[in-house]
Amino acid sequence: MMPRPPSKVVYENSGRIVVVTGGSNGIGLAICQAFLASGASVVCIDVAQASDSSVAGSAEFYRADVSDESQCKAAMDHVVGKYGGVDVLVNNAAIQPPQSYTPVDQLDSLLAQRIINVNFMGYTYMAKYALGYMKAQRSGVVVNIASGQGHRTARQVPIYGPMKAASILQTKQWGVEYARHGIRVASVSPGAIDTPLVRASLDAQGGEAALANRHPLGRIGQPHEIAQAVLWLASDDASFVTATDLSVDGGLSAFGAFADPYPLPQDSSQQ
Ligand SMILES: NC(=O)c1ccc[n+]([C@@H]2O[C@H](COP(=O)([O-])OP(=O)(O)OC[C@H]3O[C@@H](n4cnc5c(N)ncnc54)[C@H](O)[C@@H]3O)[C@@H](O)[C@H]2O)c1
Repeated sequence: MMPRPPSKVVYENSGRIVVVTGGSNGIGLAICQAFLASGASVVCIDVAQASDSSVAGSAEFYRADVSDESQCKAAMDHVVGKYGGVDVLVNNAAIQPPQSYTPVDQLDSLLAQRIINVNFMGYTYMAKYALGYMKAQRSGVVVNIASGQGHRTARQVPIYGPMKAASILQTKQWGVEYARHGIRVASVSPGAIDTPLVRASLDAQGGEAALANRHPLGRIGQPHEIAQAVLWLASDDASFVTATDLSVDGGLSAFGAFADPYPLPQDSSQQ
């Protein structure tokens, strides 16, 4: 049975300014909704507006491509100019195009470069400008959305996986660097979560049932289950948590390959 989003607000974020990249869909949208429900002012930075603007609630939409440094700077300048500061940055916008599922010798290098520009440089540019403001405030929290694929690897993810490993190390490096300025940095590594990104790659993952079975909880996760972890990390309840990663993955990362019933589709007779 799918868990329902929590009905009560656990964290109070009134007066806090929260920036979420990639907030128009999937996990980012759930993060925007969770912060809005807790009273925060939320700015969603995305290349595309949510297809149903009612689900995005009263978040402000600001169009920007995070792979473009000047657009990231303009976005952060806009947020601070309008709201007077930035308390939380959630780096979430990332891509994993279905065509990128390939061994490295068959990689489309232009596509690979695009993944690096969005998933790695996008997080870097947004942090560069947000951390500048947070440093002057002497407060702030950055949460990077990494991935289980940044901890362990799989076939056919030669760029996306390594870039997610980079998000985990960005988290540690920025956390160490900015701790003395009163800023915390943490990341969340989701397992498979039911979003457009995952739906687009179900074939490459052997189908929905196979994907669910890789998680000891026997299902893929829901976007609000990641949002709740982000809310906690951004809250004062996590005041001694920095430079670290939290797996929110239904047990996926602890599940040994030897115990794992997910042969490739053509190997299913070997179960
Ligand atoms: N869904 C999963 O199973 C899963 C698992 C592990 C990690 N993640 C990570 O979670 C995050 C969100 O994934 P999702 O599944 O919700 O993805 P999604 O594709 O459903 O949504 C991503 C959002 O980012 C936006 N975006 C894409 N490129 C952008 C750019 N250049 N500039 C600004 N916005 C851009 C898209 O328009 C979209 O709204 C990503 O960092 C992803 O790598 C997802």
